[in-house]
Amino acid sequence: MAEMVKLFVNGREVEVESGKNLIDAFKVIGIEIPHFCYHPALGADGNCRMCLVGIEDGRPPLVPACKTPVAPGLKVQLDTEKIKKIQHDIMEFELINHPIDCPVCDQAGECTLQDYYMSYDLQDSRMTEPVVVKGKRMDFGCGVVHDQERCVLCARCVRFTRLITKTGELGIVNRSDEARVETFPGRPLNNRYAVNVVDLCPVGAMTSRDFRFTQRAWFLTRDKGICHGCAKGCNIYIDHNREKYKDDVIYRFRPRLNEQVNGYFICDEGRFTYHAENEGRLMAARVDGKDCLGDYAAQSVRAVLGPKSLILVSPDSSLEQMAAIKALSEAVGARLSGYSEGYIKEGDGDNWLIQDDKSANRAGLSLLGIDAGKETFTRLLNSSEVLVSFDNDLFIHDTGSEFRQRLEAIKVIAVTSHDGILTKMASIAIPVASYSESSGSLVNIDGMLQHFDRAVQKNTPYFDMVELCGMLGSPVATASDAVNEIKKVIPSFANVEGGLKLTASEATNVPA
Ligand code: SF4
Ligand code: SF4
Ligand code: FES
Repeated sequence: MAEMVKLFVNGREVEVESGKNLIDAFKVIGIEIPHFCYHPALGADGNCRMCLVGIEDGRPPLVPACKTPVAPGLKVQLDTEKIKKIQHDIMEFELINHPIDCPVCDQAGECTLQDYYMSYDLQDSRMTEPVVVKGKRMDFGCGVVHDQERCVLCARCVRFTRLITKTGELGIVNRSDEARVETFPGRPLNNRYAVNVVDLCPVGAMTSRDFRFTQRAWFLTRDKGICHGCAKGCNIYIDHNREKYKDDVIYRFRPRLNEQVNGYFICDEGRFTYHAENEGRLMAARVDGKDCLGDYAAQSVRAVLGPKSLILVSPDSSLEQMAAIKALSEAVGARLSGYSEGYIKEGDGDNWLIQDDKSANRAGLSLLGIDAGKETFTRLLNSSEVLVSFDNDLFIHDTGSEFRQRLEAIKVIAVTSHDGILTKMASIAIPVASYSESSGSLVNIDGMLQHFDRAVQKNTPYFDMVELCGMLGSPVATASDAVNEIKKVIPSFANVEGGLKLTASEATNVPA
């Protein structure tokens, strides 16, 4: 629990956390201090002067809030005529050469400059000179498009590449109204986190080629999610929209702050995995090559499940889904494996967020005691007559090829959200909801238990995998059944905002 200090804002006593600057401390209690250049992950640069506030203790008339730490008894003024005048002046300065092209700017609706104009400015322009013309639609690399005319020169993007990725591709060149953000000649953005500059940019000067002009920000529904791109489990916003006469579609993933997992950022690869959520879906149930109702396909699966069946669990499935599948295998006497070596890309991870393991919940397999070894899988496969894959992409990175011959000799059943090689080999295929259409829990590579809720609601929802397991004979047939099952191995299991760090014995399923 952070230490609290009492101070005064516009004469009113408030209590805030110590150790923070005025911007962050006041934000927690609902008081906004406008700012452009400060960002908690990048520190205070002090270049924009939008955050100037008054302090009644004989300091210079105005001080930058981003560089002023809270202190007991501090008397802070935010609403004097002098401060309002400064805010007008800074806004006027920022807008002198700004194109003010909000109607065609991708940032409109989520732009700090636009919001501050409405909150702190509302002046008519006094400019009579032609504005300075700068670069437009500049390809900065990694899918980042830069507009120099919209830039307020806060240097957040520059500091990101210097302080966070340490790749230093961006710099500010020239001075005064000729100053502009540039890449070095022949050296565009080239790092695996580059698109974070789009989120950091407070205005529409950095946009994502992938998202530009696909949706206006105010049409999007913003839901919380967990990236399933690797074992880190970065926290994200899933921005989606159902346009008239169309289905609910995801338009972008953006980072969501979680100090315990990913901080303020995500990697570009994970950011763009939303495409895979939208595309390549298995659309209809199939039995022997013919489309059919899901219920009929489920009955057909139920009829063949038994001791000669091998059920394959995905390391991407939630704990709830794994618990339901495991209970199903026990109920029908089937064998069970979580073999998924193909999800691991050796050497691909870095020492920050990106992991070698491209699955979201491998820790869940060991927690629930599901063997994922290749030797066991091969032995079980060779003595089984039916393979039922629950969303396990055996052919990911082509690792399933060595099993192809055996798979061609037995009956293959695919219960999956996405079409793929295994689905094409399957005599029965059943589409199920993907993770953005489901709720569940994951344990990341650091033993952090995190929960996610359904974000996307398809016009015709696919089967929920836990409920489908119930239809196939699993005693774990609902989310609450699954939670009861999980509590047997994680007694402290709960939906904790921000995640719950499991103890070493909980994370490994080994009693302390
Ligand atoms: S491009 Fe955006 S983040 Fe970079 S300096 Fe300009 S306004 Fe700031
Ligand atoms: S590091 Fe992993 S979990 Fe995080 S955004 Fe990238 S792929 Fe997703
Ligand atoms: S946020 Fe304080 S000077 Fe820019």
